[in-house]
Amino acid sequence: KTVFVLNGPNLNLLGTREPAVYGAQTLADVEQLCAAACARHGFALRFHQSNHEGTLLDWIHEAGRLHAAGQLAGVVLNAGAYTHTSIALPDAIKGTGVTLIELHISNVHARESFRHHSYLSAVAKAVMCGFGVPGYGLAIDAMALQAGG
Ligand code: DQA
Repeated sequence: KTVFVLNGPNLNLLGTREPAVYGAQTLADVEQLCAAACARHGFALRFHQSNHEGTLLDWIHEAGRLHAAGQLAGVVLNAGAYTHTSIALPDAIKGTGVTLIELHISNVHARESFRHHSYLSAVAKAVMCGFGVPGYGLAIDAMALQAGG
């Protein structure tokens, strides 16, 4: 089965973006970590980043088609700031029925109050938040657990 790991706005800047909050690892490092985690569980990986909400929607719809064909384990989504603003993203999760793990590198609840609300959490199977970049690997491990293999 396939795992989609989708990253939203500004996550292409990882490594140089507010390193005290997000750490020194780059998005390429995140991809490597996800590839290793997927290899551990026999998952195929689709790893993407976009600064555009519509592009993220298109990838969720694509994941939905795999889901319908029984070929998707789930979607790990770090929607960045769209987490706190987008209604279209949770609509796409609901509309496709894909299993979602919402992910944040930082502990959003320990930060500004505008980061405390997520439109995604209500449609997520689980939320991974505050474990830094290693959280991506943990989310894929969790995906394997809940998929039973
Ligand atoms: C983030 C947290 C969001 O509030 C922020 O807008 C991001 C990154 C995180 O990974 O901690 O861009 O999703």
